[in-house]
Amino acid sequence: MDKDSETIKYEILKKIQGIENLPPFPDIINRLNAEMNKESIDLTAVSRIIETDPSLTAHFLRLVNTAFYAPVDGRFTTVQQALVRLGVPETRKICMTFAAMKIFESPSGLVDHKKFWKHCISTALMSQSLVASRRPVKDKNMIFTAGLLHDMGIYILDIYFPEYYAKVREVAEKEQRQVHEVEKELLGMDHGEISSLLLAKWGLPEVIYDAVEFHHEPDRCPQETKWLCQVVHLSEFIVSDQGLSEPGDIFPTKSSEGAWYDLGVEIDEMIELLDKVVSEIDKTEAFINS
Ligand SMILES: [Fe+2]
Ligand SMILES: [Fe+2]
Repeated sequence: MDKDSETIKYEILKKIQGIENLPPFPDIINRLNAEMNKESIDLTAVSRIIETDPSLTAHFLRLVNTAFYAPVDGRFTTVQQALVRLGVPETRKICMTFAAMKIFESPSGLVDHKKFWKHCISTALMSQSLVASRRPVKDKNMIFTAGLLHDMGIYILDIYFPEYYAKVREVAEKEQRQVHEVEKELLGMDHGEISSLLLAKWGLPEVIYDAVEFHHEPDRCPQETKWLCQVVHLSEFIVSDQGLSEPGDIFPTKSSEGAWYDLGVEIDEMIELLDKVVSEIDKTEAFINS
């Protein structure tokens, strides 16, 4: 590339600063979270919020009537029926994933949309499972969000900087290196940092955007938010290791020894946890294809 990494980094930062040119964080998710985070949740109010978005409603009803969710005794015909049966956490995951998948709808073609989302949803589900096995957390939704959105920077690169991103992938392939390492070298920053800038602009909490920023280098994450970063890092590592690879990566990802140590987890246990979320991950096919 004829431009140096500092110049390119400045271009990327400028693009993200001008957030008005980027898609906003879906308002429906903010409204659903506000309602679902209440002490006593009003299911009618939640249904009404979902129903304000016809495309989400259609998708939700189609999805809940697939083999994974459908009741044996018939079909869900209303949002509220499905919501009562599925429960709030599952409904929240479905709505959040749907909304996230809609944010960037026209990738340049370098990113395989289906593979990308399967990787991200798998990382989100695995992160939740890992945290559930380790510590009580009040806001489980935060963990799912971090896992789901950790690679959004890849979309920014793919849509707004396709030439640079193509070059990154070409060099990674030719030199048999990790994509995020080549991003740092050629673009001055990796997709984790870009994801983080976007999530911060969207007003998501610091613990989420810190975790996302350092998801390839958790040892560099600030101490207070390191635990979530390590969770996303190891979850991404295990789902990649088991075949749901990091978008763009051709070579196996590496993992941080410190993350294994701090979380007190070993590879066998991670594989066991992953086995438990496999059926959840299988549902993602229904998500992505519906
Ligand atoms: Fe990544
Ligand atoms: Fe990833």
